[in-house]
Amino acid sequence: MASQPERNLIQSLESAVVVMYLGKSSKDKRDVYYRLAKEQGWRARSAFKLMQVDEEFSLLEGVTKAVDLCAAPGSWSQVLSKRLVENKKEGQEAKIVAVDLQAMAPLPGVIQLQGDITKQSTADQIISYFDGEKADIVVCDGAPDVTGLHDMDEYIQAQLLLAALNITTHVLRPGGSFVAKIFRGKDITLLYTQLKIFFPNVTCSKPRSSRNSSIEAFIVCQDYTPPKDYVPNMGTPLLDLPPMDEQGRSNRTIVPFIACGDLCGFDSDMTYALPVAGEGYKLLKPVQGPITAPYLSAIQKKRKGFFNEQVSKKIGQ
Ligand SMILES: C[S@@+](CC[C@H](N)C(=O)[O-])C[C@H]1O[C@@H](n2cnc3c(N)ncnc32)[C@H](O)[C@@H]1O
Repeated sequence: MASQPERNLIQSLESAVVVMYLGKSSKDKRDVYYRLAKEQGWRARSAFKLMQVDEEFSLLEGVTKAVDLCAAPGSWSQVLSKRLVENKKEGQEAKIVAVDLQAMAPLPGVIQLQGDITKQSTADQIISYFDGEKADIVVCDGAPDVTGLHDMDEYIQAQLLLAALNITTHVLRPGGSFVAKIFRGKDITLLYTQLKIFFPNVTCSKPRSSRNSSIEAFIVCQDYTPPKDYVPNMGTPLLDLPPMDEQGRSNRTIVPFIACGDLCGFDSDMTYALPVAGEGYKLLKPVQGPITAPYLSAIQKKRKGFFNEQVSKKIGQ
């Protein structure tokens, strides 16, 4: 029989385990697509966004060559890899090039490149992997580390999209597609105008798995048709458009907006009750943890007292 202090200790340990369990499982409750991603083996909930956009636009039908920009941890590459293997005919090769600033755990059939897509050297490497061949689709789920300063976040997101579009003009075959994350901010119509120069069909889509509370959406550009005499050039500032066209009309374009994914399916803004533990619900670990998360160096610095030293220095000044 345990003594009273021992019983107290056991009780507090049990409560700590319950608190840890609830803490972790509450994310499963609040974010149904996070839970489903773990259950279905996707590295990130973003997989559902690409799948729902594809359901609406059939973008991956017949595709055998793809570029995944800003790919880590790799759930879009997983979707691409699954679909491209299904699509390829006998004797045909599927090719996927995935690029990110962060290292990514290997995926079968996916060529990986660690680099910054806004840098010429990274773009050159991607282009060289295609070695004269052309991709059927380029996707980009790039997002900067959000600062909370909305204008700044929208601006950086737009720069990522333009870098992705520039790379796309080098590697996409005529008739191919380009899908990219956008933030629907105040200057979005300028970006639409830029995209319309290269693609006659541009649609803004919002998959069910992307929260309504977020300004995130996905631009779907189809039927790549570059202007006559256009020569891809990484140095070209694509966004250098006058605010008015030659006839004095506003140079801003509005494109159709489509909500996609099963509208009766899971709502990403809702919290869902979990099935009772042991009766169908098991708390699962993420499929693939980050290899070198950007926050790790900050944690190490904090442990070594780096930030305290900085504060002391500032106070001493
Ligand atoms: C939302 S995550 C992508 C998730 C990914 N599509 C998936 O399904 O796993 C955004 C990624 O953009 C990457 N990123 C941001 N800026 C970048 C840049 N300039 N060059 C390359 N990757 C970048 C980040 O490192 C991050 O991994």
